[in-house]
Amino acid sequence: MKIIFAVGLTLILGIGLALNAYAAGDATKGKAAYAVCAACHGANGMGNKALNAPRIAGQEPWYLERQLNNYKKGIRGANPKDSYGMQMRPMALTLANDQAVSDMAAYVSSMPASKPSESTVKGDAKAGKASYMICQTCHGPTGGGNKALNSPRLTGLQDWYIVRQLKNFKAGIRGTKSGDVFGMQMRPMAMTLANDEAINNVAAYIATFK
Ligand code: HEC
Ligand code: HEC
Repeated sequence: MKIIFAVGLTLILGIGLALNAYAAGDATKGKAAYAVCAACHGANGMGNKALNAPRIAGQEPWYLERQLNNYKKGIRGANPKDSYGMQMRPMALTLANDQAVSDMAAYVSSMPASKPSESTVKGDAKAGKASYMICQTCHGPTGGGNKALNSPRLTGLQDWYIVRQLKNFKAGIRGTKSGDVFGMQMRPMAMTLANDEAINNVAAYIATFK
């Protein structure tokens, strides 16, 4: 019994480590491949609201790598209700292999992300602060993210993108596909936001982070 438990635990930890592992990328090679991405995310990676493309500059490389792989595998961007994710998926598929994904993540994370994002969502940041209490355990008190908890940086993401993702998680458009280990951890957290107003409020609060 004890042995079975130990083996099970080792397997779970092993899978966790394998999912966490990422190869170091070559930012110079990533930069060359970025030309196709610039069309939507901008030459500086700051995103483009008119094209629904979020800011990606300065995001953590392990998170970028995970999302690019998720798109490639159809863990993200394959749900017919996910019209924006479906636009992104073929772009991730242009990255031929794991090395190309790592190179891209290295380049995008190295892009400077100084400019604050515009605010477009009308929400009550004060009310959002109260809802954010639970979020900070994983994403940090000022949205900096936490690699040990697999939680990405939220600071600098556009508020309209945050709102869309929270709605996607709630609706099960993101975070339900088998293999989406980390999206499944986030989904119940989005469920704590009772309605659209609560979602707007928390996005407005995150927008106050520098
Ligand atoms: C046709 C426009 C378009 C192009 C070209 C494009 N993207 Fe995207 N990308 C999007 C959209 C739209 C989203 C948001 C999807 C959503 O809302 O779920 C997105 C999302 C992403 C995300 C997820 C961000 C997050 O915070 O989770 C990453 C990473 C990304 N793109 C990287 C890239 C890279 C790298 C390339 C080039 C290989 C690229 N994109 C090319 C439109 C595009
Ligand atoms: C238990 C830890 C945990 C808590 C608590 C948590 N999150 Fe997350 N969150 C995650 C993880 C892990 C991901 C990455 C999911 C993935 O890889 O697709 C994530 C992803 C996100 C994303 C998507 C980011 C992007 O670039 O697409 C947003 C937005 C977000 N969380 C907001 C929140 C908010 C708001 C709260 C509080 C209501 C919250 N999170 C609470 C773990 C958590």
